Amino acid sequence: MPPEDPTRKSLRELGATEPVAIAWLFTQLRVRLSAELARASEEGGWDKVRDSWVGIGDTVSIRVATNWVETAPEQVRLLVFRERENLIEFVNIRLTVMQTLQDLGYTSPEAIPPLFQKLSGAFDGEIKACVDEIDLGVSRVNWVGRRSGVLTLITDNWLKPANPELKRTVGQELNKLKAHVESTLEARKRDVESLAERGASAKDRVDLSLSGVIRPIGTHHLIRQVFQEIEDIFFSIGFSVVEGPEIETPYYNFEALNIPEFHPVRDDMDTFYLELPKGAPGPLLLRTHTSPVQIRTMEKRQPPVRVIVPGKVYRRDNPDATHSFMFHQIEGLAVDSDITFCDFTGTIDYFVKQFFGESVKTRFRPSYFPFTEPSVEFDVSCVFCGGSGTANSGGTCGKCKGSAWIELFGAGMVDPAVYGFVNYDPQKVSGFAFGIGIDRLAMLKYGIDDIQAFFQNDVRFLGQFP
Ligand code: FA5
Repeated sequence: MPPEDPTRKSLRELGATEPVAIAWLFTQLRVRLSAELARASEEGGWDKVRDSWVGIGDTVSIRVATNWVETAPEQVRLLVFRERENLIEFVNIRLTVMQTLQDLGYTSPEAIPPLFQKLSGAFDGEIKACVDEIDLGVSRVNWVGRRSGVLTLITDNWLKPANPELKRTVGQELNKLKAHVESTLEARKRDVESLAERGASAKDRVDLSLSGVIRPIGTHHLIRQVFQEIEDIFFSIGFSVVEGPEIETPYYNFEALNIPEFHPVRDDMDTFYLELPKGAPGPLLLRTHTSPVQIRTMEKRQPPVRVIVPGKVYRRDNPDATHSFMFHQIEGLAVDSDITFCDFTGTIDYFVKQFFGESVKTRFRPSYFPFTEPSVEFDVSCVFCGGSGTANSGGTCGKCKGSAWIELFGAGMVDPAVYGFVNYDPQKVSGFAFGIGIDRLAMLKYGIDDIQAFFQNDVRFLGQFP
């Protein structure tokens, strides 16, 4: 395919977002296919044409689906979808008539009339879609063109090589189809001419003096963008993504993470419990962190495990500039036979540098989580004052309050007690885990000072992160 192949671009890039322009693109594709088939019938090798149009992998039909249908503006998507289906039918018909009946597996005369009926139906559909003389001209060449029109190809490939048993039926059906095609083309020609005379052709009906409709293009929410950015970084070092339920049992949210009932840590993670019908088994709650998916993953998989878990979490925190009752986390978990504290700090350091830039420094401080031992809190050198503690204006940096460091997230080596809940042998495996608050991380990277801005749906805010 030449590099300027339009199917490699989106409709927007091609400037074709209105019905008439879209129909024209598909007409051009039909013309291109006919030219390719004409060349192939002279040089042989039409199966190459089939492979590049409707085969597997990087084909015209797949590219039209991904680059045109999927990215089409909402109001024309259905139209593009139908046009694509018609195109595929068009390609299949052309390819069918390039083969002999024997190759197609037709051996008995009774099977021939239905085959021609199918062709006739496809022809009718194509002609109905012709709205002007250009469309009609293309269809005429495709069906009655002397060199490689469908009728000629049927004569050459079906009729001539057919065995005597089939020849009679094929000849009769071909004559019927010919008569139908010719009379329909004539009738449609008259329709299209009279439409054109009345100035009512679809293309003419476009009033160019009207001001255009500007449709704003949407974008991913910043939180989604940050998720993707983080996922890409961890993909590059061999992690994969897993997900877990937002409605959890206390067992997964607390107990299996070594947080027994009445453990004081539960106070920091007060959450929302579901009201269940009487007699329903056990309480259910909205998960307070993504850590339960550590347990769910280890229950299902044997080491080595290397996963990240993006998702929503919930806490009974009062909303303010840095707290929301629903927020986002990415959990990370790596367990294998020989994972050390060095692997842990190296991985985190790599992530932070990829995310914030090579110049940031990281440090960790002792902390406490019941499911990691030792536990740490990761800090990054303040991205606002470059780790100096002094603002550009000369005073104390307001973001790190002069400390030069900003707290990033909690992490640690998986506590051996946790392995007991998932039947891993703590003598044989070791690993690390971390839990990143995505909303605060995004605030830090993009200089946002109120977490509530993420949830207020104000397009003036969201539009700043295209
Ligand atoms: C946890 O949730 C642990 N599960 C993290 C962890 C995982 C530690 C694996 C060790 C191993 P913590 O309660 O600190 O930890 O919450 C993690 C992050 O969530 C915080 O750093 C913060 O960025 C974010 N966060 C916590 N509460 C809120 C809130 N109400 N609104 C927005 N972000 C919050």
